[in-house]
Amino acid sequence: MSDKRKIILDVDTGTDDAVAIMCAYLDPAIDLIGVCTVAGNKTLPFTTENTLRVKDLLKADFPVHKGCSVAMVSTLLPNRHGDYKGQRTQVEGMDKPIEIHTDYLELPPSVSKVEPEHAVWYYIDTLMKSDGDITLVPVGPLTNVAMAMRIEPEICGKIKEIVLMGGGRNRTNTSIAAEFNIWADPEAAQIVMDSGCPIRIVPLDATQRACINADETKYLRTLNNPVATAVADCVDHRILAYSHLQPMERLDSAPVHDALAVCAVAHPEVLKDVLFTRVDIDISGGFADGQTIVDPRAYTDRPRNAYFAMNSDRDLFASWMMDCVKRFQA
Ligand code: BDR
Ligand code: CA
Repeated sequence: MSDKRKIILDVDTGTDDAVAIMCAYLDPAIDLIGVCTVAGNKTLPFTTENTLRVKDLLKADFPVHKGCSVAMVSTLLPNRHGDYKGQRTQVEGMDKPIEIHTDYLELPPSVSKVEPEHAVWYYIDTLMKSDGDITLVPVGPLTNVAMAMRIEPEICGKIKEIVLMGGGRNRTNTSIAAEFNIWADPEAAQIVMDSGCPIRIVPLDATQRACINADETKYLRTLNNPVATAVADCVDHRILAYSHLQPMERLDSAPVHDALAVCAVAHPEVLKDVLFTRVDIDISGGFADGQTIVDPRAYTDRPRNAYFAMNSDRDLFASWMMDCVKRFQA
């Protein structure tokens, strides 16, 4: 029996989701058994097409299942999410506004197709048939996973672990209080928090301390390997956008959030200062809508439900990413 970690990635591709898919496919410790798409960074047609483009670049054969196009309930409330379209800014001398995720990744249009089965049913069928050895790695809004849990709660007993990118305790990026993936579907996130599954959270507190920099993308470009170049393109795009929209301590660097969650699956030591704590989501619709509330008390009267990483090992993450892409053989 293989001792590779079987995972299903759930993505809203997205520049950092793209890197996450490439690394998950190329990490020899991971068996990427399927990829589900969800609306998030962009609408579902874009996140799905971008996912297929990455699959084609990798010449991979994992199935891609299209999932939910809208959050579970939050869009029903007027003004709750406004008309958020992602951060963007117009910079003098540039023909288009700068944004962290463009509609399409700069890769050739896809040739491969999505599977006929919806992502939610794929989760239910695959998990119910499994031996409880599948880890879910959602790196977008949690709509598909929560929907599957609502339809068939028994899947919760079949999930080995959920390693998710989302949330932040001391950091936010979408509202005064919230990180994007949780903010985009807060009810779904609370359903996952209440699922009873083992959960590891890779929040902004960890991902923003693991930025990839321009020296590293320059190195990737010397490898003369299409996957290394695609990773460099995604990261350089992020570096430019972050320098205008969310500057990091080192200006020529950017977080690649979703790839850190993948790294943490097989290399848990990449996460530092991990709290075992109680995490809930604010679903009140007020200023804190979508906030990840991390219980700071030593004594808590609520059952602890998640491991929450407050820091990460940047150098380990960067060298893991380089090692993954170097393995690609055209
Ligand atoms: C998360 O939001 C998305 O924009 C990224 O892909 C990442 O999953 C970071 O807040
Ligand atoms: Ca994402």
